[in-house]
Amino acid sequence: MKVTVVGAGAVGATCADNIARKQICDELVLVDIKEGVAEGKAMDLMQTAQLEGFDTRIIGSTNDYSKTAGSSVAVITSGIPRKPGMTREELIGINAGIVKTVTQNILQYSPDCIIVVISNPMDTMTYLALKSSGLPKNRIIGMGGILDSARFRFYLSQAIACSPNDLQATVVGGHGDTTMIPLTRLATYCGTPVSNYLDAETLKKVAADTMVGGATLTGLLGTSAWYAPGAAGCALVEAIVRDEKKMMPCCVYLEGEYGLNDICIGVPVIIGRNGWERIVDFQLNDEEKAAMQKSADAVRNMNNVLSTLTI
Ligand code: 2OP
Repeated sequence: MKVTVVGAGAVGATCADNIARKQICDELVLVDIKEGVAEGKAMDLMQTAQLEGFDTRIIGSTNDYSKTAGSSVAVITSGIPRKPGMTREELIGINAGIVKTVTQNILQYSPDCIIVVISNPMDTMTYLALKSSGLPKNRIIGMGGILDSARFRFYLSQAIACSPNDLQATVVGGHGDTTMIPLTRLATYCGTPVSNYLDAETLKKVAADTMVGGATLTGLLGTSAWYAPGAAGCALVEAIVRDEKKMMPCCVYLEGEYGLNDICIGVPVIIGRNGWERIVDFQLNDEEKAAMQKSADAVRNMNNVLSTLTI
């Protein structure tokens, strides 16, 4: 089993690190456009193999996609990250061209692979990867909701003073500061509603903090976060490779589900060997449905920008 991670920046390298440590595949190829960076990070990671006890072989490549041939899964992290004060949406001009080219390069050598998109603005990049490749919809998955849901659990766990592992909490909608929808009504602590433990005002703050979770880190770090995005990317790859059939909130192409059409946006899906295999209907209430429509409108506006770009 072979996995490729394109983009050896902080998110890509962290994702690769997680994949190797968990021995999800035998061979892991790290690709970057910057001369020597992928080779260097691959070598650095390989020098942790004995220390961490993994047998995954990690290979670095400066833009030579022939080395990625036969990959079952390819993760796209390429593009520029956001800086403090920037929205993910502002990256579209530069990242669209990169994501389109990377998608083509991957498919040239791994025509059957499943593509995971992490590059921002993630919902629009997922849509672009799907439309420009013509792949079956189940083989293109945007990773945003897994990360946003992990952040939702983090903020909930801080407020309740409990383990994030005892929480179930999902974020749907777009992966943007104003488009994501933390589903507070459906969040539970060991099977009991979180509203048993937190008042409405605290729950509102948890949701608001979750929505700007990435921006908060960008403000602190001076660039986009990488540990949680890399780990979330790895969790998705693991669910695909091990055919886990786990339910994960991911950005996928909708054809009527959740009342939406011709858009890639976050909804709960079942992940397995074939990519996303089924969309799960969370039976949103009217307020949540309205939030989903509003989020979709914003994502659609961003998708419309694609047609104004020369890529
Ligand atoms: C984030 O939210 C990188 O979009 C990613 O941190």
